[in-house]
Amino acid sequence: MTKLVAVVPGDGIGPEVIGEATRVLDFYRSERRLPIELWPLDLGADRYLRDGVGLPVDVRDRIRRDAAAVLLGALGDPRVPGLEHAREILFGLRFGLDLYANVRPIRALVDRLVPLRERSSADVDFVILRENTEGIYAGIGGQFKRGTRDEVAISEDVNTRRGVERIIRAGFEHARRRRKKRIAMADKSNAMRHAHELWYRVFFEVACEYPEIEARHSYIDAMCLHLVQDPAQFDVIVTCNLFGDILTDLGAALQGGLGMAASANLHPAVRGCCDEPHSPSRVALFEPVHGSAPGLAGQDVANPLASILTVGMMLSHLGWPEEEARLEAIVAQALATKHCTADVGGTLGTRAVGDWILRELAASFV
Ligand code: IPM
Ligand code: MG
Repeated sequence: MTKLVAVVPGDGIGPEVIGEATRVLDFYRSERRLPIELWPLDLGADRYLRDGVGLPVDVRDRIRRDAAAVLLGALGDPRVPGLEHAREILFGLRFGLDLYANVRPIRALVDRLVPLRERSSADVDFVILRENTEGIYAGIGGQFKRGTRDEVAISEDVNTRRGVERIIRAGFEHARRRRKKRIAMADKSNAMRHAHELWYRVFFEVACEYPEIEARHSYIDAMCLHLVQDPAQFDVIVTCNLFGDILTDLGAALQGGLGMAASANLHPAVRGCCDEPHSPSRVALFEPVHGSAPGLAGQDVANPLASILTVGMMLSHLGWPEEEARLEAIVAQALATKHCTADVGGTLGTRAVGDWILRELAASFV
């Protein structure tokens, strides 16, 4: 059956990097005859400014009903300073499709991208599973006496038993399927006594069901320290939405910067989360971790490799895991031979990197 892939290039450098990623998808579609159909969606700041549309409900519903995946570039534009459209689209997809697991692999593909002294790419190879549908991102709160000296501003941190348990289970399942020996969970239960005591308790409860996996707990501050001191000690990390956001930027730094960081937003089938009568369909969202970098837009300097690696994650999710491995090997080769943009040590432009990747991709099949 043909798999429908909705494509939202978005703002800033989004259209340029997604342009290269789309060429890769198109190669698979037309040259390799993979049953993929692309569905371009005009969503982003331009559309929002033109007719006030962020993510229309009927588009979201059609994505839920018909699409197998969404490929999203980046959102954020100085002409929408409050980022209303970005939140509506990004959170509309993450929350609206209940994509509770934000999977962000942290892998350095060549030694020179690792910024730590006496560390090599072999030391940076783990994955962060970030809770993606609640926490501080639930948007619950308010402002009182706004603009006065007595102003009160509150953002509530929402943690549900179901939400915490399913992401922790997804982390253990991820480790088990890949035969990883260790999982670490980072919270701040020493300060956030109520919300994060729940994380702590559920983590060790679930750990009992996975005796072959070593379960370690760290406070988030210590985890930041450990990631810089010795990233090699990690296989799988699970954490809440906000800490996952922060930790994955730190992780991106370990793998060569935001231009190299790929991600998938999934709804993994684990016990206790997929047995609801009205369980949403299994569409997934794929996006590079970087933002829209408006200052770099339109200059042919943005690094398309994160988006190309993201396409690899998508192809794997859609049932072609060997294509993820192939694309990753080609990207590693691009880095090794400096066929890449300046942020990762090369001299090529966005489009030329895409040309090189496509040539190698075609050659890899002959
Ligand atoms: C990310 C981004 C987003 C987030 C922003 C754009 C809201 O930083 O995907 O990591 O915080 O989730
Ligand atoms: Mg972030």
